[in-house]
Amino acid sequence: RDYFSSQTERTFALMKPESLKHLGNIVEEIYSRGFEITKAKMCLLSEAQAKEFYKEHEDKSFFLGLIYRTLVRHMSSEPVLAMELMGKDAIKAWRREIGPTDVEVAKKEAPSSLRSLFGINKTQNGFHGSDSLESAQRELQIFFPSDTSLGKKAPRTSATF
Ligand code: TYD
Ligand code: MG
Repeated sequence: RDYFSSQTERTFALMKPESLKHLGNIVEEIYSRGFEITKAKMCLLSEAQAKEFYKEHEDKSFFLGLIYRTLVRHMSSEPVLAMELMGKDAIKAWRREIGPTDVEVAKKEAPSSLRSLFGINKTQNGFHGSDSLESAQRELQIFFPSDTSLGKKAPRTSATF
């Protein structure tokens, strides 16, 4: 297989804490929807790492600040599975497969999406997917730093609890 042909690209995907118990089914879904898992790492994020990951959403206002802190707390509460996925048009395709952010909307508008099938609510929606090439590069570098995978900045893995 030619991993470097122009049609294929890499994206960053993440299984949030609530979807890990469906890991087996979700791995099958990922492959049957046309992706390959080319990297995977189980991580327990510190609060600082969760903040860094979602830093575009940081907000000082009361309401959005509350959502942000809830999100950060959720993402650092239990392990997550970080993945590099490869596939045709993978960045857009993975966003399409996970579906709308709010699980209630996903159930109505995209019933076969992964968030509809495995998500719980708007915060515990099961999955992350990079929203652009720049995000994919930034997020892959956070979780899979090419030359410092055992370095201090890499998120803690389940082997180092
Ligand atoms: P966002 O980037 O808007 O959604 P997506 O994950 O689909 O790119 O928001 C990031 C995460 O923040 C989202 O997955 C869940 C959480 N979130 C909430 O908990 N409440 C909200 O109202 C929004 C918009 C997001
Ligand atoms: Mg987003």
